[in-house]
Amino acid sequence: MPKYEEIFENNLRWLEQKKGSDHSFFEKLAKDQHPEYLYIGCSDSRVTAEEMMGAEPGEIFVHRNIANLVNATDLNVMAVINYAVRYLGVKHVVVCGHYGCGGVKAAMQPKDMGILNPWLRNIRDVYRIHMQELDAITDEHKKYDRLVELNVQEQCVNVIKLASVQQEYIKSRFPTVHGWVFDMKTGKIIDLKLDFNKILKDIQKIYNLTDSAT
Ligand code: CO
Repeated sequence: MPKYEEIFENNLRWLEQKKGSDHSFFEKLAKDQHPEYLYIGCSDSRVTAEEMMGAEPGEIFVHRNIANLVNATDLNVMAVINYAVRYLGVKHVVVCGHYGCGGVKAAMQPKDMGILNPWLRNIRDVYRIHMQELDAITDEHKKYDRLVELNVQEQCVNVIKLASVQQEYIKSRFPTVHGWVFDMKTGKIIDLKLDFNKILKDIQKIYNLTDSAT
């Protein structure tokens, strides 16, 4: 881990390296951004967005919070998605969870977590929706991993519930929504390949907001 002063030395080395491979790198960077990806991930320090995706500055619009939640009353994530979809025109929205997520683990404990209670309740609600499947898993680790995956799935559904996402999709067939899990034991990104037509089959009518767009 770099000492505080070393961060600025590292930064100088980094910018020289960037300029070395493209001398107008920062000139171009300062002009505008046209990221094709919106990445919504966990704040966990071990799950980096750009580095694990091999992406450069300017390529991914990022939002991170504890346990990668998309909550309709969180003005922060709502503003990020709206801006990314309506103004940046991102083509892909990725919700990326990770095995070993402390937020998901905490939500599995019957404990008062103070200010985290209302936040983690979103994950408890995911558990409630999928209780039948989760309660049938006897291995605690497997149950934990599955809740991480189902949390990603439900947060993807929360993205699809938004008017901005539905209306842009009708106009341009974008953005597409993807659910990923990062496995930090192997370093692999796993695409859950969620089939939203199947997942939303019975509930789409409830969340449809596209009338005003037609
Ligand atoms: Co986490």
